[in-house]
Amino acid sequence: MENLERLIQLLGRSQFVSVLTGAGVSAESGIPTFRGKDGLWNRYDPTELATLEAFEENPLMVWKWYLWRMRLIAKANPNHAHTALAEMESLFPEFLLITQNVDGLHRRAGSKRFVELHGNIFEGKCRYCGKRYSEEEFSRLFPLSDREFLKRLTDEEFKERVLEGLKEEDLPKCRWCGSFIGPGVVWFGESLPEDALQRAFQVAEKSEIFFSVGTSAVVQPAASLPIVAKRNGAVLVEINPEETPISSYCDFVFRDSASKTLPSIVSMLREHR
Ligand code: OAD
Ligand code: ZN
Repeated sequence: MENLERLIQLLGRSQFVSVLTGAGVSAESGIPTFRGKDGLWNRYDPTELATLEAFEENPLMVWKWYLWRMRLIAKANPNHAHTALAEMESLFPEFLLITQNVDGLHRRAGSKRFVELHGNIFEGKCRYCGKRYSEEEFSRLFPLSDREFLKRLTDEEFKERVLEGLKEEDLPKCRWCGSFIGPGVVWFGESLPEDALQRAFQVAEKSEIFFSVGTSAVVQPAASLPIVAKRNGAVLVEINPEETPISSYCDFVFRDSASKTLPSIVSMLREHR
């Protein structure tokens, strides 16, 4: 608690605050994380699902897996961590939320000042020519990917329509080049969206306080952001029930859930102001 009060005082004096988020922030919305004991990468092999090679070899399998995740996300709601972050942006003159999450829950919670480093699962991206499709455009091209549609599908219907019913010829094709369109996320071996990445690093360098929340901080280049911030003089704060490779660089560590810690910080900050 004493720790928290000291952080609130520092925040009260700060203009430039940034937050990096990872899958842990959405864990309490019921979306599985990637690593850890119930992590997706323990159950599935990322090289068979989240690479260009896998998509070229078996686009149907990759799409079924993504539609399964999209449905899970469509049925989920933002939690108190997301809403606290959406509130936090109005408390500082300069604020940026940098997320590795592709679920769009920050946006749904009302965040406006954010970048999505790993893309967005409801958008489309042609792996051949690079053409991007917005969520709206893409759901018209591939109605199975529509968020509202997926949200309403029962388990039985999902099994029938997607797991059993989807065929390779039903997969969405690029309007420009005719290749299969994949989900709008960054896969292993792909580069991150240049504009988002640049902005994230510029902001990390200028931050007075930098939060790393719910991320295992092992996937590059996102994992370098807290270190870059720290080297440039930021106070580094970690919120994560588990230790990570960046924990020892942190000035403040909260070994608790994001959905408990962030709302406490925001409400204390409001009182402080
Ligand atoms: P990980 O699954 O690697 O890590 C999730 C982190 O969240 C772990 O450190 C957990 O301890 C922590 N955590 C779990 N529950 C939490 C809670 N309630 N509150 C706070 N923290 C909690 O997820 P990321 O670090 O986001 O890449 O993974 C980074 C990237 O690896 C992902 O963006 C994805 C994946 O491959 C792409 O899709 C490109
Ligand atoms: Zn194309």
